Amino acid sequence: MSALDGRAQTVRIALVMVGLPARGKTHMARRVARYLRWLGVRTRVFNVGNYRRQEIGSHQPAAFFDPDNPEGKAARRRMAMRALDDMLEWFASGGEVGLYDATNTTRARRETVATRARAHGLEVVFVESVCEDERVIESNIRQTKLHMPDYAGVASDAAVADFRARIAHYERAYEPVQEDEGAFVRVIDVGRKLVAHRIQGYLPSRLVYFLMNLHVEPRSIWLTRHGQSTFNVEDRVGGDPPLSPAGRAFATSLAAHVKASGVTPRVWTSTLARTRETAAP
Ligand code: SIN
Repeated sequence: MSALDGRAQTVRIALVMVGLPARGKTHMARRVARYLRWLGVRTRVFNVGNYRRQEIGSHQPAAFFDPDNPEGKAARRRMAMRALDDMLEWFASGGEVGLYDATNTTRARRETVATRARAHGLEVVFVESVCEDERVIESNIRQTKLHMPDYAGVASDAAVADFRARIAHYERAYEPVQEDEGAFVRVIDVGRKLVAHRIQGYLPSRLVYFLMNLHVEPRSIWLTRHGQSTFNVEDRVGGDPPLSPAGRAFATSLAAHVKASGVTPRVWTSTLARTRETAAP
């Protein structure tokens, strides 16, 4: 049973990604999908780049993405419509939130996608990723794009140059989402700023909150058990006892270890005394 079952009216939402290449769209789409699935929502990502790679091959030069290249343009449109057809078919078989992961950088393309989605009774929300932070773009290109099948066997400098030329082609045709196009969330510099327009309802609101807290840079999660409790001294577990002297010594050295690592952590504990006392220093 999904989180959306039992509601008076079935909510079916197409989240349409928008943005230039290397703006973290695919990362966002996957993270949103994972979050929604965890909430129990039937969710799927439809990535147009994957359709292109599967159907016409991954090694397309930057010129393929030139908006003035009629063959490339027609092929890209065909792939985009194929992915859209599949997404609409998936909705018809019970899908609840579909993420349409493509650049969708022109107003005309978004209109085509939104019109077809709305005709199938879907609510459409554009999720636009805007990133002007050169550092983030460069790191995205190097950490993700160079590992795409598109650049398998290509020297990294040549791959970066080609990918930058691809971005430049998209930049020439890019039209940011406008308010009259409908509901949208614009994520600027991966969460530094977020603009929400006409976002209503339970799931879209949760989505905004989730996107506000999303980041692309790797971070560490450290897990630790609590220090020894007074029950542990007696070979007992459970209950809600405080730490033993050895447990408190562990808490102090744990804090010193974290401090020495140079990070400023956000600490989560359970509500039990032994975990709170471990975290306190
Ligand atoms: C691609 O073919 O890699 C992306 C197509 C697009 O969304 O513009």
